[in-house]
Parts: sequence; structure tokens; C-alpha cells
Amino acid sequence: MTALHDRAVQHPAPAVPAPASRAGVGETLRLAGTALAPMLARGIILRRPPLVRLADRLQLDDRAVRALQASRRRHGDGPLLLRVPGRSLALVLSARDAGRLLAEGPTPFSPATREKRAALQHFQPRGVLISPPEERPARRAWNETALQVDVPLHAQAASVAQIAAQELSGLRTAGRWDWDTFAPAWWRAVRRLTLGDAARDDEALTDLLGRLRSRANWAFLRRTDGPARAELLRRIEAYVQAAEPGSLAATVAALPADPDVHVADQVAHWLFAWDAAGIATHRSLALLAGHPAHAAAVAEEVDRADAVAPDLPLLRATVLESVRLWPTTLAVLRESTQDTDWAGSTVPAGTTFVIASSLAHRDDELLDDADRFAPQLWADDAAPGGTSASLWSMVPFSAGPARCPGRDLVLYTTGVALSVLTAGHRVEQVAGRRVVEGTALPRSLDHTALAYRVS
Ligand code: HEM
Repeated sequence: MTALHDRAVQHPAPAVPAPASRAGVGETLRLAGTALAPMLARGIILRRPPLVRLADRLQLDDRAVRALQASRRRHGDGPLLLRVPGRSLALVLSARDAGRLLAEGPTPFSPATREKRAALQHFQPRGVLISPPEERPARRAWNETALQVDVPLHAQAASVAQIAAQELSGLRTAGRWDWDTFAPAWWRAVRRLTLGDAARDDEALTDLLGRLRSRANWAFLRRTDGPARAELLRRIEAYVQAAEPGSLAATVAALPADPDVHVADQVAHWLFAWDAAGIATHRSLALLAGHPAHAAAVAEEVDRADAVAPDLPLLRATVLESVRLWPTTLAVLRESTQDTDWAGSTVPAGTTFVIASSLAHRDDELLDDADRFAPQLWADDAAPGGTSASLWSMVPFSAGPARCPGRDLVLYTTGVALSVLTAGHRVEQVAGRRVVEGTALPRSLDHTALAYRVS
């Protein structure tokens, strides 16, 4: 069997750069309505379930992809500047340009865009993703070391597997679960593996984070709740200080102290980001239920795996497909710090470039497997380490200097979680939109509607 890992093998991106162009007023309104508003409405930082339901019912991501493809046919595949009063905003329409934006950072393309700063400062004002260029390197290096990027088995791998087994096997033995039963169990596991066993039942902490994330959805439009934010960071700091063995807090405590890192802000980002991993896990089960041959191969992999710290490449690929097909980061943004040249055209400094994940991952005009479950996309043969322009069209964990440093830990943890949920059983989907082999997979999938039975 082909070894699988987490680098997509893709068609080479078209090599010839294309100039930027400008959308008219009508087209700007159409794109704002079909591609941007549905993303914002769903909640960039904390999903709003009624809007997630609506997106699924109306397949809003499909409409967004169609609108973006239509604009690309009209203008070519260079960046498309929208007519937004007082702002310079460009939609990215090619893998080539996405590759350039992600690779060339943090200058001239900064990940700390003003939209991200406005949103994330509500709960992690000194988080790495929104750090200014002079503060970013130390925080980035710290995150890479703590989360052990590019290390398939994190130092806490055995403990993570144990926590996943303890917190999630109850769902399997109950024989049936939905989002409302999965999510609380997932958060118990997340609190334990991030902060230690003492945090297992500290729902007040994640509720507080949830309230601040809900404010963050409104970015500039909501006032910062300074006292609540300080309280969140204080409580996280206390868990980090306790450094319970087997948790990420223990890994953090072992790192050299650097006051400029502001550890609690970084850990606030981690807690927030585990939500996406839970959603990806819950959706992965729909892929397993709808693809029996793959599920059978996964069952063999789980049977054979090491009991203490299992390496599960097929499950990693399943989760990667979950976040490719239904990206949890709806858009990846970059802001230019200077004027930039696009095949002879100039795009002004201060432009926010929007890479819509739905188009990047599901571009059926360019990708054969856009709408199929295709775990083989993550096969490692000849994958040149995530830097080739040919890989840029599928970036669920971003790429380049701001790519997700939690990626390997996430893929390990979600893989282990799926192995616990499915071990020795066949999974059947009993509610929510079906994801069935041989049919074009839906572009919007309401994870809150999915429910499963095991037999
Ligand atoms: C399914 C789960 C996850 C997905 C799909 C994901 C995806 C991403 C993406 C796309 C970015 C980059 C955003 C950008 O380029 O603007 C990012 C950044 C980041 N992620 Fe994740 N992430 C996940 C879970 C996690 C977890 C669980 C952690 C920590 C435990 C984490 C830690 C981070 C950090 C610290 C950054 C900022 C990196 C920087 O600014 O250099 N992520 N993630």
C-alpha cells in the first residue's frame, strides 16, 4: 500500500503569472454576496449553528466556487480587486498566486492582517498569528517547539492516546452519538491534553473562551471585553504553571522562559483551534461511513497499530480529506506591507488578499478529484516537502512561514480519536447530509447535523 502523509500531490500550477484586474461595482456586489458574506455570516472564529445549517441547506460553498470561477473566466486568474470604499481587497483566483502569498511572508505578505488582528485580539492579543514582524519570530519558534511541528509523534503522544481512549470510548460503547454528545467529550479530552487532568471539567474556562470567540466574530464591531480577556489568560496561566505531567502544559513548562512570548495568549489560540479539529474528526466519520472499502483498510490499520502511541497514516489522510473537502479555515488572508507587482500590474500596499479555501480545495475546473474522497492525494511519493508551487492549491493547514504549527499534533490526535471511536466496529451515518462514494460530495456540510451508530 502507498504510504500516506500530509502533503498534497497536485497538478502543477499554471506557470505564467497573470496581472491583477478590477471587478466592476455589480460584480463586486455579487462576489460579496456569494463568496464573502456567507463566510463571515457563518462565523470565522466561532461557528453560528443556524448559519452553518443554512449553508448546508443552500450549499453556499458551491455557489461561492461557481461565482469565483465565473469571475476567473471573465478576468483571467490574476488577483481580482473588488470595489470596496476605503479598502483594498483582492480575491485570489489561482494556486500560483496563493503559493506566492503564502511563501513570501511575513513581508511583503503579512499573516497579521487588520481583520485577523481585530478578531483575535478579543482573546489572544499577543498570539503569534497577529504579532507584528519584530515580535513574531520568537513566538513562532516557541510554538514550533512546543507543538513539535514535523514530528509525527509528539512527546505527549502516549498520553494523548490514553486521554482519547478514556474520554471518547464511552461514545462507542453507547453505540450512537451526535454532535451534542461528541462535542462535550471532545472538549474534556482537549482540556486534559492541553492543560492537564485538573482542567477536565473546567467548562467555565471553555465557555469563557466561547463568549470571547463569539465577540471575535464581530472583529472591529464589538468592543473588547478587557476584564473577561484578562480573566481567561489568567486562568490559562495558572494551568500552565501547574504543568501537569502528560499535558501540553508540561511540555510548555519545560521550555526556556521568554517573557516576550506571552505563553497564555499562545495557549488561548491552541484551545480555540482544537474546536476545528473536533469538527474535522466528526466529519471524518461521515467519510468512513460513506466509503466502506477505505473504512475496512482503516480497521486493519487500527488493528495492527501500536497500542501506546499508534501511527495511523490512513486516518491522518482521512482527516486531511475532511479539512480539504470542508475546510475549517474558510479563508486564508494576507495583507501586503508594500506595493506589489503582479505580472506588470501594481497592487497597492495595505491590500488584503483573500484565498477562499472552498475554491482552492474544490476547484473542479482544475482538480480531477475536487469533489471526490481522495485520500491518495496525500501520498508521500515525490512530494517535495510542501514548498513546491504545485502543492499550493490545497492548504488546509496553510503553508509557508505561518503554516499551522499544530498540524502534526492535530493529525495524530484526530487519528487516535477516530481509532477509539471506530475500533472493532462498523460506522453508519444515521443523520445529516450523506457523503457517499461515487457521488459528488457536498461542498457545505453541517457538522452539527451528523450522527452515527456503530455495530
Ligand atoms: C483541524 C484543525 C486545524 C486546522 C485546519 C488548522 C489550520 C490552520 C491554518 C490554516 C493556519 C494559518 C492561518 C494563516 O495562514 O493565516 C493555522 C495557524 C496556526 N495554528 Fe492551526 N489549525 C488547526 C488546529 C490547530 C491546533 C489544535 C493548534 C494548537 C494546538 C494550532 C496552532 C496554530 C497556531 C499557533 C497558528 C499560528 C501560526 C503562525 O502564525 O505562525 N492549530 N492553523
